[in-house]
Amino acid sequence: MAKITYITHDGREHVVDVAPGWSLMEGAVKNRVPGIDADCGGASACATCHVYVDPAWLPALPPKSDIEEAMLDFALVTAPNSRLSCQIRVTSDLDGLVVRIPFSQH
Ligand code: FES
Repeated sequence: MAKITYITHDGREHVVDVAPGWSLMEGAVKNRVPGIDADCGGASACATCHVYVDPAWLPALPPKSDIEEAMLDFALVTAPNSRLSCQIRVTSDLDGLVVRIPFSQH
């Protein structure tokens, strides 16, 4: 398990254990963390699973694919640390990861 901290736009921290192999999006949705809509179910086709990754953790993540990069153009307010949470596979190396959830996905 990897302990992931999801911080919602109101500043609340949701710390959940996420099984390796799940995506960051699945970790949030299956643990009822609010704010990640994931309308396409993880197919990289909606950008409603947008999160801001704690900058300290960016080097630990795999680079964005071209598809992820293109879909992020549809997210509401992006930043250099924006990622699609459905495209990040959780491993034990991500134990302690912190991400922030935007105020809206639409
Ligand atoms: S769930 Fe649709 S792009 Fe991530």
